[in-house]
Amino acid sequence: MDSLLIVGGRSLQGTVPISGAKNAALPLACAALLTADPLRLSNLPALRDVSTLIDLLGRMGVVAQREAGTVTLQAAQVSEPFADYEMVKTMRASILVLGPLIARCGHARVSLPGGCAIGQRPVDLHIKGLVAMGARIEVNHGYIEAHAERLRGARIVMDMVTVTGTENLMMAATLAEGTTLLENAAREPEVVDLALCLNAMGARVSGAGTDVITIEGVSALHGADHRIMPDRIETGTFLAAVAATGGDVRLDGTDAGSLDAVIDKLRESGAHIEIGTGWMRVAASNRPLAVNFRTAPYPAFPTDMQAQLMTLDCIARGTAVIAETIFENRFMHALELRRMGAEIELSGNTAVVRGVPQLQGARVMATDLRASASLVIAGLIAEGETLIDRIYHLDRGYESIETKLCNLGADVRRVRGAAGSA
Ligand code: EPZ
Repeated sequence: MDSLLIVGGRSLQGTVPISGAKNAALPLACAALLTADPLRLSNLPALRDVSTLIDLLGRMGVVAQREAGTVTLQAAQVSEPFADYEMVKTMRASILVLGPLIARCGHARVSLPGGCAIGQRPVDLHIKGLVAMGARIEVNHGYIEAHAERLRGARIVMDMVTVTGTENLMMAATLAEGTTLLENAAREPEVVDLALCLNAMGARVSGAGTDVITIEGVSALHGADHRIMPDRIETGTFLAAVAATGGDVRLDGTDAGSLDAVIDKLRESGAHIEIGTGWMRVAASNRPLAVNFRTAPYPAFPTDMQAQLMTLDCIARGTAVIAETIFENRFMHALELRRMGAEIELSGNTAVVRGVPQLQGARVMATDLRASASLVIAGLIAEGETLIDRIYHLDRGYESIETKLCNLGADVRRVRGAAGSA
């Protein structure tokens, strides 16, 4: 397994291109199952998770044509509405094929995703919503087995705000008989991006971006050409990296509109952030101020930025209190940051971070995607060398991160791991 070797202490300068959003690309690719026509997605990020999903769709009979930054997916027929455990366990977002498969084929057999490092990650709300739309669902031997002649519209009140749950049900409802109301729906920008694409395919979705989404079912969808929104979490990660390391960086091809909560916190830490049309600039020169924050569903502070901002707090002036309200085990990066000299006390879903003037480079291990990003930022600001093992987590969600960082003046090198090494 590969590692990243980082020599810390250099500020970041220059321009970085932001890639398409992983968490938009994944549901958008699954939307291809809803029509026999081609769906063309541009601004496609070159990520492991995207490749994994395209492979999974391929096994179902979806033909993929990839050019640089674009994929055209065509489910002329779905020969195999099946997602096996091997595929789903490596990428939980595979659950997003469930709704489209039932809507298009009338049946599906999809492995339960199982948990992951950051939490149990149940999909009970996905299943509950599909049952409300008339699907007959059994869970046998770790697989969700679903059947429905044709889904019918329903009023669904989601017990919790679930992003992929909202996306799964929204896609399923596009081909249902009648109208579906999703209440307490997720408001994330990726949900809005998916709704824009579905409507371009002939669906009738309204209210995306609010907590009540209405979907009027139609008999069929057609192909479309959709540009994937910029990745707001990659954007936030680079903003946090510059705020922590100091420097002056322009981010191209991004959209500040979906990051208000993150921008507010970074400005509070002392970073200067400028917003243009399709670009942002972040500059910082002094040691940041500690910022308290609490994660919650959009538009509040995103859980996917919690680890990155914790790293900034590790070297900030003052003490910060961080509350993680979305996932039950999303502080594992704190254990690794401590090995670099961070002073972090954990108690349940709360972390208290007492800022220290400097971190020390060390050998650390990535445990999940955003934890990996926080360790990269820690390596950039630490004194000396940091070696981050198991960076396959990072490759799932960040396109060419070492190239992008080196182009900003960082000293980052990928170390090819011996097969089977830690
Ligand atoms: C999406 O995951 C994102 N992934 C996650 O990003 C992100 O952290 C998360 O939303 C929250 O914003 C994708 O979009 C592919 P949830 P998702 O369903 O949809 C509970 C990353 O780093 N829940 O919104 O799986 C759940 O346990 C990844 O890019 C149920 O109880 O998250 C959690 O506590 C990590 N039952 C809360 O809801 C359900 O049926 C929110 O989870 C569904 C969810």
